[in-house]
Amino acid sequence: MSDLNARIVEELTCSYFMELETVMNYIANSTNLVGVKAEPIKQSLLADVAEEIGHAQTIAKRIHVLGGSVPGSGAFQSAQHSLQPPSDPCDVLSVIRGVIEAEAGACAQYKKIIALCSEANDPVTEDMCVTLLADEEEHKRDFEGFLVEYERG
Ligand SMILES: [Fe+2]
Ligand SMILES: [Fe+2]
Repeated sequence: MSDLNARIVEELTCSYFMELETVMNYIANSTNLVGVKAEPIKQSLLADVAEEIGHAQTIAKRIHVLGGSVPGSGAFQSAQHSLQPPSDPCDVLSVIRGVIEAEAGACAQYKKIIALCSEANDPVTEDMCVTLLADEEEHKRDFEGFLVEYERG
């Protein structure tokens, strides 16, 4: 494996864990939030859980194809501080902001891999990351829409 390919596998592994951490935090927040205002957010997060699991599986398969090894939970390090469930179960706003930050982080990470892929001439991984990036941009846009409404009170 060339240095560049090894870096791609490393960054894909980072994305893989980001996706799985998102799954944990979306499940927690979609369960913990209460109240009438929380309901659409809970539904949206639940729908995203399935999508983010799919992303993690897609990335895992690609890591394998590239000759890498998919790590277990021992290598996992938590990074999504802003997505931790709020102490107030009615604090929908902090969850919305946390989701936007997590989705923006995922977008930035996919853009980083896309740039590496064009350098390494790896159009298949690049294509995969472009598709994942499109999904994350959509998630981010959905929650930015929620934010506009919730900030109005
Ligand atoms: Fe994702
Ligand atoms: Fe997402």
